[in-house]
Amino acid sequence: MSFNQRHLLGIEPLHPVEITTLLDLAETYVELNRSTAKHAEVLAGLTQINMFFEASTRTQASFELAGKRLGADVMNMSVAHSSVKKGETLIDTALTLNAMHPDLLVVRHPSSGAVNLLAEKVNCAVLNAGDGRHEHPTQALLDALTIRRKKGRLHRLVVAICGDIAHSRVARSNLILLGKMENRVRLVGPPTLMPMGVAEFGCEVYDDMKAGLEDADVVMMLRLQKERMDGAFIPSEREFFHRYGLDSDKLSRAKPDAIVMHPGPMNRGVEIDGLIADDINRSVIQEQVEMGVAVRMAAMDLLAQNLKRARLKAALREA
Ligand code: NCD
Repeated sequence: MSFNQRHLLGIEPLHPVEITTLLDLAETYVELNRSTAKHAEVLAGLTQINMFFEASTRTQASFELAGKRLGADVMNMSVAHSSVKKGETLIDTALTLNAMHPDLLVVRHPSSGAVNLLAEKVNCAVLNAGDGRHEHPTQALLDALTIRRKKGRLHRLVVAICGDIAHSRVARSNLILLGKMENRVRLVGPPTLMPMGVAEFGCEVYDDMKAGLEDADVVMMLRLQKERMDGAFIPSEREFFHRYGLDSDKLSRAKPDAIVMHPGPMNRGVEIDGLIADDINRSVIQEQVEMGVAVRMAAMDLLAQNLKRARLKAALREA
């Protein structure tokens, strides 16, 4: 069994073989998504509920599309109009939804650990679509697929993750995944935006952008996560762009064929120069979005297979 998970809560519990299995399956979905008839019925009869307690464009849209392309019945729970606004707790909301027999629950929540907690209370597969500053596993997997396709491999690459590392679940999931696949990860940003204890992940830390980008194969930019900051972490956005914003001068330090990534949403002129973001020879930002749908299809396909197997086993035990 090469993908042995009940939920997808983070990259942390995944074995490198499971990561490769998921990416290989996602490749087949990239092909399907590029064809005219984009349907595979592997989730037919299953119910997928998307619960987003935090704003999202790409992630929610691609989970919805992924479920629909695989034939699931997809329901987007509109949190803004739900009983959550009337004070219902996360667990009560989850138990209510659980009583409707979903098979796949996709959850984004502002608190780190909330999705893990919820997974303990329901009897379906749970996919973490981002919890606080903890993990965002499908983002790291889609980034990995983009890198593997552009660089031809997913090992022994120098990857510079730049900007607001401290508040970023994207950075966390990526550095765990890239570490597991034996890449060299550099974290680049001002000391105020570096999390505590980064050394334990075996990353190199730089506060000088040009030094951090030297000979990098991959340059991954991050948004300043102002919604998670209380207080001032940078002198000003102008100053931040000057020191840490990706422009052609700083990018010239990386390898000539280095790719530029960004999970979106981007703040042009803050962490990235618009000209670099739009440079089709360097930026793979649109490919990341494309890979997002394929990776989410693969993740839900694998989890649904495991769910069906577990249910069959349980039914046989009862018989
Ligand atoms: C990221 C997120 O929500 O963590 N976006 C995304 O999922 N594509 C990063 C961000 O919000 O800056």
